[in-house]
Amino acid sequence: MLRLGGKKVLLGISGSIAAYKSPLLVRLLIKNGAEVRVILTPSALDFVTPTTLSTLSNNPVNTSFTEIKDKQDNPEWINHVELSLWADFMIIAPATSNTISSMASARCDNLLLASYLSSKCPVFVAPSMDLDMYKHPGNQENLSKLKSFGNIILESETGDLASGLKGKGRMMEPENIVSNIIRNIKNEYPLKGKNILVSAGPTYEKIDPVRFIGNFSSGKMGFSLAEVAANLGAKVTLISGPSSLKTSNNTINLINVVSAEEMYNEILKYFFSVDIFVSAAAVADFIPKEFHHLKIKKSQRLNKISLKNNIDILHNLGKIKTNQYIVGFALETNDGDKNAYNKLIDKNLDAIFLNILSDKQNVFNSDYNFGKYITRKKSISFKLTTKLDLSNKIFEQIIKDS
Ligand code: CTP
Repeated sequence: MLRLGGKKVLLGISGSIAAYKSPLLVRLLIKNGAEVRVILTPSALDFVTPTTLSTLSNNPVNTSFTEIKDKQDNPEWINHVELSLWADFMIIAPATSNTISSMASARCDNLLLASYLSSKCPVFVAPSMDLDMYKHPGNQENLSKLKSFGNIILESETGDLASGLKGKGRMMEPENIVSNIIRNIKNEYPLKGKNILVSAGPTYEKIDPVRFIGNFSSGKMGFSLAEVAANLGAKVTLISGPSSLKTSNNTINLINVVSAEEMYNEILKYFFSVDIFVSAAAVADFIPKEFHHLKIKKSQRLNKISLKNNIDILHNLGKIKTNQYIVGFALETNDGDKNAYNKLIDKNLDAIFLNILSDKQNVFNSDYNFGKYITRKKSISFKLTTKLDLSNKIFEQIIKDS
């Protein structure tokens, strides 16, 4: 099996003697199905040649911000942003003390660093140093800094070093780098390649230009679900009713809407191309029968507003769904299990999350939530926890079942 089948890998090589192992790493990545592009720092050129790497990777190798590509000797600018956005992940191996320190402090004086700083994908870093240099507090601090940026450090191995000394500092062997990456990708990005749609927040249904019917939903649950899905590797579209929240993961495509009708229209644009739809929006069930185009004045002594049922977005989607895995939410004050199960069946869902609203536990606008994840075959209870943690637990179930 090609365990990196279709993955695009940007390999950055910096100037360490361990660079002699980089051609082997390229071969192993390609053997596992990856497409590889290589960037060399200027000092890496002392240890390994672009010709070797471009032959093995079957791709041009980049070494500087500009390159001569035509016969007139005109330099052409290499787009480092394009290179890093192309990659599904980046590996920096070997990573020298100098390169690690530049990465930690956002220095940008070569193409490898510029690509690293513009990357949005997971970055694996394989340090390569002599033992005392590796132990130096400055280097340990820089490696911790990279970890805090979310980079994955491929720990140096212990053994013979180029200096003749023995100890910890040598670059992880290429076989181990590849198997570490495969393990990491499998575990941490289980939603890679999936398209996920999440709805969140309330909907506002206008009575007149200044008044509306709405509800207390803050959108926090839906935003947490979207964030978790994106962190698990999914391409996420989040359609939210009025909410003051912002997404913290900038890969999420956030679409703001106001009414249920707008929400439905936006959802329909994405629904047929997604794998999973999570309907966490608290859609207003009732809508004024008529919209007053001018503000209703106090003097008009309004004593009733005629309402009609609003569109049931989820019910409609359940009827027209093809392969989408649909998860609904049920907000109940009483007979929770029975009502949630009925909604699961009525709306043709794959799963439903039951939220219990009680005087003791208000989940509206709270950072915490609890409830039950119910499918046709099982019901799993989750204790009160943060909405982010609960979202992780919900996606654990969705990944198992979908
Ligand atoms: N939902 C929807 N459109 C509506 C009402 C609800 O898409 N007009 C979705 C919600 O996003 C949620 C699920 O349906 O995922 C259940 O919502 P809930 O408010 O608990 O139930 P309702 O179907 O509105 O029924 P009731 O209010 O009578 O309990």
